Amino acid sequence: MDKILVHGGHPLSGSIKISGSKNSALPILAATLLTKEPCVLRHVPDLSDTNYMLQILMHLGAEVERASGTVTVKAEKVESTAPYDVVRRMRASVCVLGPLLARCKEATVSLPGGCVIGDRPIDLHLLGFEGLGAAVRVEAGNVRMFTTGLKGAVLNLRGKFGPTVLGTDNVMMAAVLAEGTTVIEGAAAEPEVVDLANFLNKMGAKIEGAGTRRLIIEGVKELHGTEHDIIPDRIEAGTFLVAGAVCGHGVTVTRVVPEHISAVTDALTEAGFKIETTENSVTVSPNGASKALELSTQPYPGFPTDMQAQMCALLSTTEGISVITENIFPQRYMHLAEMKRMGAHIQIEGPTALIQGVEKLYGAPVMASDLRASAALVLAGLKAEGITEISRVYHIDRGYEHLDEKLGALGAHIERVKAD
Ligand code: EPU
Repeated sequence: MDKILVHGGHPLSGSIKISGSKNSALPILAATLLTKEPCVLRHVPDLSDTNYMLQILMHLGAEVERASGTVTVKAEKVESTAPYDVVRRMRASVCVLGPLLARCKEATVSLPGGCVIGDRPIDLHLLGFEGLGAAVRVEAGNVRMFTTGLKGAVLNLRGKFGPTVLGTDNVMMAAVLAEGTTVIEGAAAEPEVVDLANFLNKMGAKIEGAGTRRLIIEGVKELHGTEHDIIPDRIEAGTFLVAGAVCGHGVTVTRVVPEHISAVTDALTEAGFKIETTENSVTVSPNGASKALELSTQPYPGFPTDMQAQMCALLSTTEGISVITENIFPQRYMHLAEMKRMGAHIQIEGPTALIQGVEKLYGAPVMASDLRASAALVLAGLKAEGITEISRVYHIDRGYEHLDEKLGALGAHIERVKAD
């Protein structure tokens, strides 16, 4: 298993091109199962998660070709069963449920487990499928669904932690081929949901309201192949901007949609950094002393939970007391114990972290626990004195395309070594 060594104290500067969005690419790849015709997707990031999804599609019978960032999927015939072996490695594999149900009228998919960021139930996905007329059973670790024909319905997918992103995606992918009109209230409005809706509409679906809390989907008989460019990854962009804030002299992210990261750039502005934006780039630079923040994670357009860990890394050395509240995954704080080992002063009270900024962090051996936590430890290591040795970096490879190389190009001293 690889380790990443970050030699702290080397300032970053320069410009980095952002890859296609992981969280757009995954459901969009699943959506290619909805048609027999080929779909061509550009800017598909080369990540272990997207590679798992391609393996799942191949297992289900699709032909897949990959040439650098362009992926072509042709799902002329589709199997309706995805067993544990195939889906267990990635929670997002759950988003084949909707397309399989719509295309095959039945689906058996092994249930994803919880993960380190929390319990991660899929009750709202299943509620939506039932609302469209599917019989749903959970048995022997599998979700089994069957329908004689999906029918449009009025559904509310808002749960106690707010809207569900993949739940909205999943039910939308089933509803596009249902008979009649489906209304999804309490829908997620994340840019990745909009990207999926745009892709489905290019395939011939009739979806209105993407990007709002109310989706209206008029079912169609069939979908056709199409081409699509995956949107830039707003979380990768946010991570590089926070890296620039942690120890940069001017870091620019290009191929971004600035509006998608405005919650992050607003937070950085409030923390005292200078932000400059063009149509498709954002630059962060220091602007005098930085300030402590009060932040709470919210569904889009609020501050994203997927940026909470990285922000903790920045605030751990910002003078004053910062208060972070995690509203989406209230237990998503595994990175804090590792940051404390590097010298951070942090106290957790329920879903809230109180961060007392310290002057310095010190490099230490730390363990990555999930994707964003790993990125946060890399960021903490950039400023720390000495060497931060991060193990279990396969978490990083799930969701960041060449993170170490890209940071290296900005001036970070970072190396990947084989661990025993
Ligand atoms: N929830 C339920 N029931 C459900 C589904 C969700 O109670 O049926 C709860 C969750 O437990 C959570 C909240 O609703 O408290 C929101 O979860 P959501 O369903 O929106 O999460 P997700 O769709 O499974 C996606 C991203 C996550 C990101 C969240 C929130 C993908 C592949 N994953 O997960 O990304 O944190 O939305 O924005 O799109 C990551 O990239 O590191 C990552 C974890």
